[in-house]
Amino acid sequence: MPPRPTIAFAKFAPPHKGLAVVLAAEGGGLSDAARGCDPAGVLPRAFSITAFGGKLAAACELIAPDGLQLDRLVAVGAGKPGELDDYGWMRLGGAAAAQFRRSTEVTVVADLPDFAATAEQAANLAVGMLLRNYVFDDHKTRREDADAAAPGTPAKVTIQCANPTAARRAFASASGLVDGVCLARDLVNEPANLMGPSEMVARARTLETLGVEIEVLTEKEMRKLGMGAFLGVAQGSARPPRLVVMRWNGGRKGAPPVALVGKGVVFDSGGISIKTAAGMEDMKGDMAGAAAVVGAMHALASRKAKANVVGLIGCVENMVDGLSQRPGDIVTSMSGQTIEVINTDAEGRLVLADMLWYANDRFKPRLMIDLATLTGAVIVALGHHHAGLYSNDDALAANLMAAGSATQERLWRMPLGPDYDKLIDTRNADMKNTGGRYAGSITGAQFLRRFVKDTPWAHLDIAGTAIGSPATEVNQSWASGFGVRLLDRLVRDHYETR
Ligand code: BES
Ligand code: MN
Ligand code: ZN
Repeated sequence: MPPRPTIAFAKFAPPHKGLAVVLAAEGGGLSDAARGCDPAGVLPRAFSITAFGGKLAAACELIAPDGLQLDRLVAVGAGKPGELDDYGWMRLGGAAAAQFRRSTEVTVVADLPDFAATAEQAANLAVGMLLRNYVFDDHKTRREDADAAAPGTPAKVTIQCANPTAARRAFASASGLVDGVCLARDLVNEPANLMGPSEMVARARTLETLGVEIEVLTEKEMRKLGMGAFLGVAQGSARPPRLVVMRWNGGRKGAPPVALVGKGVVFDSGGISIKTAAGMEDMKGDMAGAAAVVGAMHALASRKAKANVVGLIGCVENMVDGLSQRPGDIVTSMSGQTIEVINTDAEGRLVLADMLWYANDRFKPRLMIDLATLTGAVIVALGHHHAGLYSNDDALAANLMAAGSATQERLWRMPLGPDYDKLIDTRNADMKNTGGRYAGSITGAQFLRRFVKDTPWAHLDIAGTAIGSPATEVNQSWASGFGVRLLDRLVRDHYETR
């Protein structure tokens, strides 16, 4: 990632160099502060020439504006200011950042006609800018290639707003969220040769500096716990698996934690039920659930969330080898339930089965949420726009849905039930790991449900939203970091002590 710009907040004052970005309301209305940047009143004329109407995220650009020392003066549309929610302000920040290009110094005037942005809104604007500016270019060795791929990162962005002191404070608490999302994106974008189980552990360990307690279980310890389902997946890889436990204790001492469980398959070849070649490179991202959990733990610890949260990630590689598990193998999970492995490519549920059982058994959590790039079938059902949400608890599902719409990390609740559960019965063991051609995402969820007992639980199938989702105002990267903002918001709105 290129170095992130420094974000500063200041009072309104017409800027005299670099790039100035002002906001325009729908219809092209400008605030006094915005008009102060354009004393000759050129913008309204430019609006009418280019038919710029102030629509959210639209832009109108003046280059070397006459009579000003600015390099560029850009108006970015804000739509109807009163209708902008938290995510709307992030989108607006993203749209502003899209205009940064080669500017080294940028001023953004966060003001709209008859509407003074609050400190939180100014902070969300900054969050959107930084998320938009993320690029994965660490492996480009030629600067010009990196520059072509990057939007261009200014050294400093000054946001002018009504209450800079309060905005600075709001941003200080939000900036850990940006770091968490970018951390998740980095983990997912990194190729599998550079991001195996041990590298995942190393990244998770960096959270220790934030006060997160880290514990790492090796293969030997997992074997002692009886995690036969998880270890069956691992046995074809030369790189041994790791189970990482991350604990943030910001809540009441001894209060049951929220448990977050992430699928961390660092590469999914499919195993002996091998995948076809086309697109297999995307399976470096099969640890996006784990990345979201690490990113969320980072965000929560950074802002010292008043909640007890335990994050567990199962880091393992699904490979083809003489020692790989075979279709037809029967493994015994930590729960004691046996599983017939019909398809070695349905490996995520095998990993999560033991993770969920362990999380429940050891931490007695108030609730559990797992995140996993679990099925291609969820992409068939929901495309790249919603993650599949499954839950045994309506209140938890409702809270997640609300957090999903607030963050626009959108979820769609899918059904569970005995008719689907039957599809994973088998004559040879307690269950099998695939349910046939139909309802593939649902049968994956039914499988997980057999490992959660009565604990409130939700499963998020993020195969369509965490990798390869369409670019947005706040994400231009292949890995979106999906889940980090969602989980941070969920905890903030529902599970923190005041
Ligand atoms: N990791 C894949 C699911 C996936 C597909 C994630 C595309 C992201 C993009 C998962 O392990 C898998 O292979 N699932 C199988 C399950 C099937 C064998 C029951 C699938 O979806 O085909
Ligand atoms: Mn698979
Ligand atoms: Zn997988």
